[in-house]
Amino acid sequence: MAAEMREVDRVIQDRLRSDVALVNQISHYIISAGGKRIRPRLVLLFANALSFEGPERHTLAAVVEFIHTATLLHDDVVDESSLRRGRQTANALFGNAASVLVGDFLYSRAFQMMVSVDRMRILEVLADATNVIAEGEVLQLMNMHDPDISVEDYLRVIRYKTAKLFEASARLGAVLAHAQPALEEACAAYGRSLGTAFQLVDDLLDYEGDTHALGKNVGDDLREGKPTLPLLVAMERGSEEERAVIRHAIEHGEEARLAEIVAIVRRTGALEVTREAARAEADKARACLHQLPASTHREALLHLCVQSVDRSS
Ligand code: IPE
Ligand code: IPE
Ligand code: MG
Ligand code: MG
Repeated sequence: MAAEMREVDRVIQDRLRSDVALVNQISHYIISAGGKRIRPRLVLLFANALSFEGPERHTLAAVVEFIHTATLLHDDVVDESSLRRGRQTANALFGNAASVLVGDFLYSRAFQMMVSVDRMRILEVLADATNVIAEGEVLQLMNMHDPDISVEDYLRVIRYKTAKLFEASARLGAVLAHAQPALEEACAAYGRSLGTAFQLVDDLLDYEGDTHALGKNVGDDLREGKPTLPLLVAMERGSEEERAVIRHAIEHGEEARLAEIVAIVRRTGALEVTREAARAEADKARACLHQLPASTHREALLHLCVQSVDRSS
């Protein structure tokens, strides 16, 4: 994928350009920090697996990375996070207003780029995805500090805020290749499951991860009182007393008691339950790939299922 990703990088650098100095400064600041670039990889792997070779694949790969980066700029403001990709967040360095507005720049630049591909179906996929992501972030806001949400409520949030863009990325590869509807749906289902697994692990790593490896602060979810699966499971499995500690932490966002909460989450096996849930989703993703012809690209997609669960960054 190295040559493919270099081409995506070229498109990204080319399309980041703006005459407004602060837009350039902030957008380069967050994009040049890197990131794993999983979503553009999905576009390329599905397009390649289905033998689509046009340059539109690089454009759309850059589009999904721009949309992802815009959501990160906004998400770090909402979450009041201070570390991202191993650097100070844009909001910490440039302020909330500049972060939100440059996020809007990246969103709208992504829409300019997707229009250039000149296919209504592609616009439809991406318009739907960005709308659902916004709903996911708002749903999450409504669930904040609420220890009584159900696992279904939690799963809905992660399907909307994260899995939807993975789904759209995978689907775009299939749409570019003019895949038959059943095949397009299989690609989309892969993305949805992979994205769900990915966010489950993200939520797990907020408790057992390492700040340096992750490039973002662990414990942010607890500080915010985000009722993620590790906490929901720990409440279900813990003693009366442990349940009360976690309820209180969600209601009040007690980062200071992170060590105590982590101990409860570990003792109750909530981390394993979360990892198992991620593994089950990754297995669902893997099963979708049977419909693709055998190729090195399909192998890479299989490998992503393992990597998304067994990761530390
Ligand atoms: C972070 O996504 C936001 C989540 C959906 C968990 P990534 O972990 O893909 O972020 P980067 O792009 O690699 O920094
Ligand atoms: C990421 O959720 C959601 C979006 C990118 C829309 P998180 O808030 O869990 O992501 P991190 O942990 O800040 O990367
Ligand atoms: Mg966040
Ligand atoms: Mg997180």
